[in-house]
Amino acid sequence: MRNKVTTLDEFIIQKQQDFPFASGDLSSLLRDIGLAAKIINREINKAGLVDILGSTGTTNVQDEEVQKLDDFANNQLIFSLKAGGDCCGIASEENDDFVPCNPSGKYIVTMDPLDGSSNIDVNVSIGTIFSIYRRISEVGTGVETADFLQKGKEQVAAGYVIYGSSTMLVYSTGNGVNGFTLDPSIGEFCLSHKDIKTPENGKYYSINQGYRSKFSKGLNEYLDYCQGFSDEKIKPLGLRYIGSMVADVHRNLIKGGIFIYPSMQGNPKGKLRLVYECNPLSYLVEQAGGKATDAKQRILELQPTELHERTPVYLGSKKMVEKAEEYINKKK
Ligand code: AHG
Ligand code: MN
Ligand code: MN
Repeated sequence: MRNKVTTLDEFIIQKQQDFPFASGDLSSLLRDIGLAAKIINREINKAGLVDILGSTGTTNVQDEEVQKLDDFANNQLIFSLKAGGDCCGIASEENDDFVPCNPSGKYIVTMDPLDGSSNIDVNVSIGTIFSIYRRISEVGTGVETADFLQKGKEQVAAGYVIYGSSTMLVYSTGNGVNGFTLDPSIGEFCLSHKDIKTPENGKYYSINQGYRSKFSKGLNEYLDYCQGFSDEKIKPLGLRYIGSMVADVHRNLIKGGIFIYPSMQGNPKGKLRLVYECNPLSYLVEQAGGKATDAKQRILELQPTELHERTPVYLGSKKMVEKAEEYINKKK
């Protein structure tokens, strides 16, 4: 006899019962994303077998090479969200402007359909990141850019899918974080990580240290601290950097750690995008008890001014983020 498992769909329905007056639109939107994730996962798993690896030969709005799987994931999510009908518009890393959907939908979605593109061809973990907001424009009309430029603290749900040694969907609707592992034998995401809480302190720091010559003095001093070189002696931390934000943040969320993509010479706003990378992951990290800032302000308080804008980001275990801020903001 098998143990009772809770599937993602069952869990979403159970949670919806906590809100008897809710319409269920958010629940069905989350299920649409779950379904698209399974289809993307199927394609990623056979990526080495079919002619799907590599570049499409085009570039996106940020002049980055678009991978075939980036396109596939983007199309799949847009298809699923449009078919579901609860979403009135989507902002995606892969589209210059937002994609209008059903005008009578109440929610907008922002997403990074495939995060960690440079890892696709080499069998390293990649992810999907999404975030959901209530629209501010009137239901029944077309969506507007302002719907997508809401502060991260207005998110009603956010999550990610990690396509790793197993595939997991982790999400929050503002009441803690839960993780579901895909059981490929039954094709269902099953509740495996209930109410994830991130440790206050951790053993890992994650940053592309190769760019050290471009970092600020304060950040380099913090890195010395992490490595045990600073006057403030600690047992050196472990450096873990996958190069897929989802995978780095997922590991740190579970084990405790800090993820940093900082401002640097030539890139004062870093690399990562506020609306569909930093906001959703910051929301999840906060929901799990961690902290997310740009070294000065809470990420979720930043006012986005354009869909694809970037921000420096420091997120993870609360005490580690606070320590990093201390070094970065140290008076010279
Ligand atoms: P994407 O594949 O969606 O463009 O995101 C890649 C991002 C992020 O996942 C990762 O943390 C970062 O790029 C790595 O950048 P560096 O190679 O500059 O460290
Ligand atoms: Mn990304
Ligand atoms: Mn991407």
